[in-house]
Amino acid sequence: MFWPDTISKRFNIKYPVIQAPMFGVSTPQMTAAAAKAGALGSLALADLSPEKSIELIRETKKLTDQPFAANIFVHNIPEITDSLKERFIKAKQFITQLAKENNIEVTLPDLEDIKVKSYHEQIDAIIGEGCKILSFTFGNLDDQSIQKLKENGVVLIGTCTSVEEALILEKSGIDMICVQGIEAGGHRGTFDAEHIPMIGGMSLFSEVYDQVKVPLIYAGGIYNGKTLRAARELGAQGFQVGSLLLASEESGLQSFEKERLKNATEKEIILTRSFSGRYARGIKNKFIETLENSDYIMPYPYQNKLTNELRRVSKTLHNSDFVSIWAGQSIHDYSDLSTKEILKVLIQSAEI
Ligand SMILES: Cc1cc2nc3c(=O)[nH]c(=O)nc-3n(C[C@H](O)[C@H](O)[C@H](O)COP(=O)(O)O)c2cc1C
Repeated sequence: MFWPDTISKRFNIKYPVIQAPMFGVSTPQMTAAAAKAGALGSLALADLSPEKSIELIRETKKLTDQPFAANIFVHNIPEITDSLKERFIKAKQFITQLAKENNIEVTLPDLEDIKVKSYHEQIDAIIGEGCKILSFTFGNLDDQSIQKLKENGVVLIGTCTSVEEALILEKSGIDMICVQGIEAGGHRGTFDAEHIPMIGGMSLFSEVYDQVKVPLIYAGGIYNGKTLRAARELGAQGFQVGSLLLASEESGLQSFEKERLKNATEKEIILTRSFSGRYARGIKNKFIETLENSDYIMPYPYQNKLTNELRRVSKTLHNSDFVSIWAGQSIHDYSDLSTKEILKVLIQSAEI
């Protein structure tokens, strides 16, 4: 049998292929389409309010009766110190001026306007909506949340970018671990936002495999049958694909962003903290070039909230120099077929 079956049996899905949660790109339609291919869809809820999370879960449930994973951000909220307040004011001024010089009129928030929430209420919403699979990134859930989720029959999938993080997840009772290699598109799942391990998928996965017992999902660089088979060879029980679906029919990216993606060169796919304060992999642009390594980057989530409106307005202007287009290192022909078709092709080509 080609496919490892631990994960498919646990979730009652046909293939242990997972459509990656991609906040801002994946949609309820993508989640449902992944299920139609026999894969596990993921619904990215990031740090949305419980109300918005409930709305999206319900929308997804209207589109599919198949299982899917809800996905959230589990992050520390940095203390607001006087120094952070001062830095925020300077960063806001700098970014507002930069936008103006580039003909983007935007009103960025003050620090006091920014509402930062922890994930606890979202968890209650997820349990309340009867979701049975929860994946998360940026850290680990606290013990109380783990207990509550388990009592409600929710299977937990944590994300690691080092062996150390994998061991923490396993020890705390997390059921499965998504091992995210440095190739992966989007945010690094690293617990400590400031210091990220830069370990390639092959090295990382093998080391984690040797040290933990829970089923492992490989994420980072899977884009065809061959790369999926390589992950299987390393011992992966599940295969998470993100970037492969960026230009799909159900992707939330706009046409100008898909075009930019298709023209990206290998040197342009970089890691940056400039948009959110956390490292993420995406396409280099003017905003990143100007901000990276400057003093105008606040810790996550403050930078993320500070730059939100700039990204929103730039999207309406189709200005790819000021939006974050996240993408992994595997450059390929991004297909604009449906998620279902793209995943079916991946599955068939892996089985050959
Ligand atoms: C646009 C984009 C957004 C992402 N957003 C999330 C997210 O909300 N939650 C999460 O756990 N991972 C997120 N990721 C990471 C993916 O889940 C996954 O680890 C990654 O896409 C796998 O590598 P690949 O892009 O090479 O397939 C995102 C990735 C991308 C490309």
